[in-house]
Amino acid sequence: MGKDTLSITDNRTGKTYEIPIQEGAIRALDLRQIKNGPDDFGLMTYDPAFTNTAACRSRITFIDGDKGVLLYRGYPIQELAEKSTYLETAYLILNGELPARAQHEDWVHNITYHTMVHENIKELMGSFRYDAHPMGMLVSTVAALSTFYPDAKAIHDPQNRRTQGFRLIAKMPTLAAFVYRHSVGTPYAYPDNELGYCGNFLQMMFKLAGKYRVNPVLERALEVLFILHADHEQNCSTSAMRSVGSSEVDPYSATAAAIAALYGPLHGGANEAVLRMLREIGGRERVPAFIKEVKESGGEVRLMGFGHRVYKNYDPRANIIKKMAEQVFEVTGRNPLLDIALELERIALQDEYFVKRKLYPNVDFYSGLIYQAMGFPVDMFPVLFAIPRTAGWLAQWDEMLQDKDQKIARPRQIYRGPAERPYVPLEARS
Ligand code: CMC
Repeated sequence: MGKDTLSITDNRTGKTYEIPIQEGAIRALDLRQIKNGPDDFGLMTYDPAFTNTAACRSRITFIDGDKGVLLYRGYPIQELAEKSTYLETAYLILNGELPARAQHEDWVHNITYHTMVHENIKELMGSFRYDAHPMGMLVSTVAALSTFYPDAKAIHDPQNRRTQGFRLIAKMPTLAAFVYRHSVGTPYAYPDNELGYCGNFLQMMFKLAGKYRVNPVLERALEVLFILHADHEQNCSTSAMRSVGSSEVDPYSATAAAIAALYGPLHGGANEAVLRMLREIGGRERVPAFIKEVKESGGEVRLMGFGHRVYKNYDPRANIIKKMAEQVFEVTGRNPLLDIALELERIALQDEYFVKRKLYPNVDFYSGLIYQAMGFPVDMFPVLFAIPRTAGWLAQWDEMLQDKDQKIARPRQIYRGPAERPYVPLEARS
């Protein structure tokens, strides 16, 4: 049986170092002792985009990208999607265990009674242009919540963290629905505490004059989509939450940063980009020409909703959504873009370009089709990602704050700019 160490020989000096291997990793700081001479800073690792760097230990979400496995606190995503609710899953993600009955009742009660937002938020919303992108509005209003709850600064108080957690999870659907109402110009609908988390969100979005009846199939579909989006370990927005949160700022400001990260088309903006792509392709017969364009573009034109940094197999979330789409379309009518999506998937999964690079449909490939069929406008799609991901962001933030190994995030760089030089006055510059 070998030792749990790594021997490194520095061929510049001929010296050999023995470095411990723990939990399948070496500590980057252990490399610092490897020096070329007394003035050398010491060896660093170069890892742009952190493709092979673990920045934390986490007990929340496990992904096996090669096998297409996703577990929240050990529970397979398929079982949660089938048997759980979004709020129960959010509790699990935040607390580590499924709630007992009394804990569940307390949790649901606390979320339900924090759904209202201060009336001034409506004025803030009103100051955006009618065509403002919903994600821009969401980033701003979540950041603004920090000014309504200055007590949130006490981030080292666990009870305070829990209170801000209720507030954020509870208010996200309200803010999201207000953002939508602003864009269409209809009066804001207030939360209805008689309804569940997803049913209430649907009524705040779509209720007009008269009684709004939540369709149980659509409510359940939204519940499942929210469960699938609740956490996904150290992705771009979660890293933003942890990184910004490591400065010990309040959770509203850190969550606003996470939402900004999610806005990008390579992350949460991808479901919106998928819909635009499907519309642009326009018909099944044009799929082969589009695939050809993707392959010949040298990475510039991408098949949106395909590929993943971690999954090198079918994203398990995409599988669940694809199956659920049929149930939703029975209620809403078939989304004609589905045929284009199915054809894209069929051709891509047989094409050497995609097979060789292990590019499979990800969570965003089919989710937009369901959202669209349910009546959500395309630019609301990333907002529909941000609502459920709030539970994951908060859980990761909480874990980070309790982790004694964590400090303010501060990566190193390899400086490649000019060496020190004297200032040149304007008249002397050519
Ligand atoms: N279409 C065409 N080619 C692709 C795609 C795609 N969707 N994704 C990756 N590639 C190619 C890429 O051009 C590169 O080829 P080559 O080796 O010839 O240069 C190779 O595959 C590896 O790509 P990469 O960009 O190095 O991979 P990455 O791990 O940095 O990127 C990704 C992951 C998700 C950003 C990328 O696959 C992508 O841009 N996908 C489309 C956007 C998308 O659907 N994003 C949603 C991700 S899932 C939701 C979430 O977690 O946010």
